[in-house]
Amino acid sequence: MKPIFIAASPNTQQDDSNLAFSQLLKPWEWYDTEPVEEFENEVERYLGEEVNALAIDSARSAFYLLLKAYGIGKGDEVILPSFSCLVVANPVLWVGANPVYVDVNKHDFNLDLNDLKSKVTNNTKAILVQHTFGMPIDVSKVREIVGPNVKIIEDTAHSLGGTLAGKKLGTLGDAAILTFGIEKVISTVRGGMAVTKDKELITKLRELRGPEPVFSRYRIFVSLLNPVLWSLITPVYYLGIGKFTVGRIVAGVSHWLKIFGNMIEECEYKTSKPDWLPAKLPGALARLGLNQIKKLDQYNEHRIKLARKYSDLLNRHYEIPDNSKHIYLRFPILVDDPKRVLNKAKQMGIVLGDWYKNILYAPAESLDLLQYIEGTTKNAEYLAKHIINLPTGVNVTEEAVDKIATLVKENMHSEKSYEGNDEPNWS
Ligand SMILES: Cc1ncc(COP(=O)(O)O)c(C=O)c1O
Repeated sequence: MKPIFIAASPNTQQDDSNLAFSQLLKPWEWYDTEPVEEFENEVERYLGEEVNALAIDSARSAFYLLLKAYGIGKGDEVILPSFSCLVVANPVLWVGANPVYVDVNKHDFNLDLNDLKSKVTNNTKAILVQHTFGMPIDVSKVREIVGPNVKIIEDTAHSLGGTLAGKKLGTLGDAAILTFGIEKVISTVRGGMAVTKDKELITKLRELRGPEPVFSRYRIFVSLLNPVLWSLITPVYYLGIGKFTVGRIVAGVSHWLKIFGNMIEECEYKTSKPDWLPAKLPGALARLGLNQIKKLDQYNEHRIKLARKYSDLLNRHYEIPDNSKHIYLRFPILVDDPKRVLNKAKQMGIVLGDWYKNILYAPAESLDLLQYIEGTTKNAEYLAKHIINLPTGVNVTEEAVDKIATLVKENMHSEKSYEGNDEPNWS
């Protein structure tokens, strides 16, 4: 069996790596603007509801621009789920506002509406609504709680292509952020968008983004190289003797040379903004996006099929709102000892996921800077101790799902040992 890496280029197929390779050979095309507009148009067409899209380097930059465009700053509060990634908390600090963390439910990993009620104040100006693992949250219920004046920004990092009541996630709030990061629903290795139906807002966002800065040539080079490298490494990952295999050596050297790039820069752990953000998405990466979006529905159908299989094999059936589509970017499951399962899987050549093994996926020393107070979101803290994520990507076979499920089944978290207030809502 080929190795399975949940986070290393999981969406890359041969046509994607061929395209990236051909782009590597044409550096004079890297800053073309037409593919960027075309990619924005494709996303607008895909989401429908007459949204407008603005392409950028990442979802975190899209969020930063949205907060700025809404005039959010000092003294304002922005609500975020704590079961998320620090890169979405940082932009709140970058504009000088205060993040307020809301707990999540144990049964669907989405915002706990009771906790939300208790945390909305007169200073609340915006809320980031994350459809965790692709599981839709009913945005109308959030609206009822926060009222008409708080900006609802959907985070579709896990859920692009999912729907609620016939509408695509990302079109239900005031605006949304999309990411095309390496391990997300579709990938340009590094990239994102802000989308909104509000025409004035999109104009403002365009002005704020401006034509500069752009990705440096080095960053484009590294991003294009990534899918090419992984398509070469994966088939020969275990070719060799013992630990000395071709794939491992090439991967090790690539890490050492820092040519895999890193999704979170060192300064971001200290809540600082990398100088080069927010940057316009370059044409070379938009071309990867154009190739990926053609396959988005097919990828999601595959994810749903594998999730159904995990669900049956592990007897974990997530309740999702009626009339909605849950795309399962990853299949979440609780185990007693995540480290043990992750290590055992690694020995089988399978790298499972660990979202979000810490609050805000942040080292303990970053939590103060992120203004998170320990003990304030107990369910999220509990989930962080037990969660692992199972892969559903296009390169994962049903045979692999059988193997993974067998391993996980031996290590599943016993429901009786749940300590939180609300019982898990598995059916
Ligand atoms: C839930 C969630 N939202 C947003 C992001 C940010 O995406 P990007 O890397 O494009 O900034 C992440 C990043 O991992 C994430 O996990």
